[in-house]
Amino acid sequence: MRISVVGCGYLGAVHAACMAKLGHDVIGIDVDERKVQALAAAAAPFFEPGLEELLREVQATGRLSFTSDISAASTSDVHFVCVGTPQKKGENAADMKYVDEAVNALLPYLREGAVVVGKSTVPVGTAARLSVLVERQEPAAHLMWNPEFLREGHAVSDTLSPDRFVYGVENGSEEHAAVRVLDEVYALPLEAGTPRLVTDLPTAELVKTAANSFLATKISFINAMAELCDAAGADVTVLADAIGLDDRIGRKFLNAGIGFGGGCLPKDIRAFMARAGELGADQALTFLREVDAINMRRRTRVVELTRELCGGSLLGQRITVLGAAFKPESDDVRDSPALSIAAQLQLQGAVVTVTDPEALQNAARRFPELHYEESTELALQRADALLLLTEWQEYRELDPYEAANIVSATRILDGRNILDATKWRAAGWTYRGLGRP
Ligand code: UDX
Repeated sequence: MRISVVGCGYLGAVHAACMAKLGHDVIGIDVDERKVQALAAAAAPFFEPGLEELLREVQATGRLSFTSDISAASTSDVHFVCVGTPQKKGENAADMKYVDEAVNALLPYLREGAVVVGKSTVPVGTAARLSVLVERQEPAAHLMWNPEFLREGHAVSDTLSPDRFVYGVENGSEEHAAVRVLDEVYALPLEAGTPRLVTDLPTAELVKTAANSFLATKISFINAMAELCDAAGADVTVLADAIGLDDRIGRKFLNAGIGFGGGCLPKDIRAFMARAGELGADQALTFLREVDAINMRRRTRVVELTRELCGGSLLGQRITVLGAAFKPESDDVRDSPALSIAAQLQLQGAVVTVTDPEALQNAARRFPELHYEESTELALQRADALLLLTEWQEYRELDPYEAANIVSATRILDGRNILDATKWRAAGWTYRGLGRP
């Protein structure tokens, strides 16, 4: 099929490459000329395992190209809308500017039978509103909503073999013409057995925000338990293992630590609360305010624990932060708890060095006042305390004996509860986890 992908950020660049991999002719469109040029040269504008290899592979087939000219969409049958919906400045609500601009820009190029497929995470009601614009422009075109559930760091495999497809169409019917079109786009993963659910438009939009809210709630639940474990002298990692064995609960997303960050969970729960308020259903989501508050409290807790670890004062203490990205296998520092903790420590008088295998450039753009060091070994030198804040494999594998010979003082705070406390203590370290005795 001939496909256009509008917006070539995280979601769009990966989606465009994966659609070409599925055998379609794809044109990726973005207003950012630099991004277009990078992608056209098979260079990913962000770190995502496997993406550059995939870009090279599909570009060699001639099935994938990139442009900043929206009129290139005129020959496509299917148009995926993959632009961002960031949090509005000073508000909880999502900024719909980019989605609105993308759909409006596409309108003049819609052909008879074309399908506009929204993938961006949007406030419920957006699809119905945009669908009016599409049908007014071209009565034989359709708009549907097909939310994306990919995780950064696994974006390529999540797109090629997702755990489910959700198709939102106006009447919620399997018989809707757009369902057949999207089935053709996803023919390969559907043949492989990926489940697909056809819903009405608002349900499809809500599936995405509900899923992210559930994940955020699960993380904040276990972090609240970590607070209790700290108060009662219990161990949250064992607690999580034990409750996780109940398959109604499950062990995934029960890792207590410094809390969630990134470009999705934090802003999605806030936008969801804002939208519920507009719909007069704000009471239904007041618990998300608590989920957000528990999450933000993790960051202050780590700053306080670091102060304790350093003997009561941060002034002049040389602190090395291992990890800047909001999660491993990513260079994304949007709302990164690790960086926000690093900045707080520095504000409170510590001398902070941050290291990360991939995210230092992005981190330096966001927090130029912090000191960055590429080499882990150099970052460790003369440290009065280590803070492990992003669980990159390299940091999981740190040898406590070797590290002890490099630092000034053998103190470590494990913000992700991933190190073997017994081993680190045996090597002479003062070890602190979160919610662990
Ligand atoms: C998330 C959703 O998982 C994905 O389905 C959606 O499409 C986009 O948002 P992502 O932002 O890539 O994906 O990250 P995810 O792996 O969900 O992690 C989010 C944050 O939660 C990270 O900061 C991570 O460190 C944290 N986390 C995750 C925990 O603190 N504990 C856990 O147990 C799991």
